[in-house]
Amino acid sequence: MALISGYHHLTMSTDGAQEDFDFFAKDLGLHSVKRTVLFDGVLPVYHLYYGSKNGDASTIFTTFPFRKPGVFGRRGTNQSKIIQAAIPVGAAEFWVNRLNERGVKAAKTSRFGMARVALEHPCGIPFELVENPGDTREVITNDKQGIGKEHGIKGIYGVAISVADRTAMDDFFTIAIPMKKLADNHEGLAFAVPENHGLHSVVEVLHEPERPQGTWTLSGGTIHHIALNTGNEENQLKLRAHIEGLGFTDISEQKDRNYFKSCYVRSPGGALFEIAWTVPEGWAKDEAPGSIGKTLVFPPWFEDRRAEMVAGLEPANFDT
Ligand SMILES: [Fe+2]
Repeated sequence: MALISGYHHLTMSTDGAQEDFDFFAKDLGLHSVKRTVLFDGVLPVYHLYYGSKNGDASTIFTTFPFRKPGVFGRRGTNQSKIIQAAIPVGAAEFWVNRLNERGVKAAKTSRFGMARVALEHPCGIPFELVENPGDTREVITNDKQGIGKEHGIKGIYGVAISVADRTAMDDFFTIAIPMKKLADNHEGLAFAVPENHGLHSVVEVLHEPERPQGTWTLSGGTIHHIALNTGNEENQLKLRAHIEGLGFTDISEQKDRNYFKSCYVRSPGGALFEIAWTVPEGWAKDEAPGSIGKTLVFPPWFEDRRAEMVAGLEPANFDT
């Protein structure tokens, strides 16, 4: 058994909360899994989670809608570039039509032999919906949004990382988090994320030395990090010790993210990786199982400042 089994979640800093919610919960038809806040001591911002109805690991896309003056990020190299979700084989056409009708420009494309739909989040982050024949997960359906089981998103397919040096990620994926190389050609490199349950997700590496260095801070319009799933604490701490022992001493201590616990490490290609596992209570920690993602919840350490936080949040309508 690998210490990693697929992705846990992908996290990006976006722009307005309303457009972010409408994009994920309406255009893409994902379900709201949790609505909470991040507070850096200045202004609170939403922390929104979208995914399958039950919030299964490997289906979670999280955002910090970060509409703050002067903190829009720069997309560039040595940074994660494209968020990728898996769709059933043959579903690309449906998505091209649906998204264009809804005012989200989308077109069919292909990389590494995989048909995909290219589009952008309203804040400009590139997205792809990838037809993946190797993905055995259930489709995330959404009756209200008109998304059935032939077309719906299945969860995370992967991330494309933009690098200035083509070999930047080689040692990280050989020794730190070993991944099988699937492709190495003029389009870039593709690595298989270790999986214990037969699905198939990837990290792609795109060689783009002409782009400027991307920002690493939490700033709008950029992907902040990529979280892999260790399944439990034992695997996480084993992998953490292994990575630190190799000399990646910048791997963080374990951090409490309320619903899961996380360690972070900066990879040589610039992308920030997280290794995470969901605590037993999971999303049902503060909302009833079966109706998660419906209310605004606060981590216990902010509960006494709820009123102040709510007053500082951007107004948005989270009805679907
Ligand atoms: Fe994370």
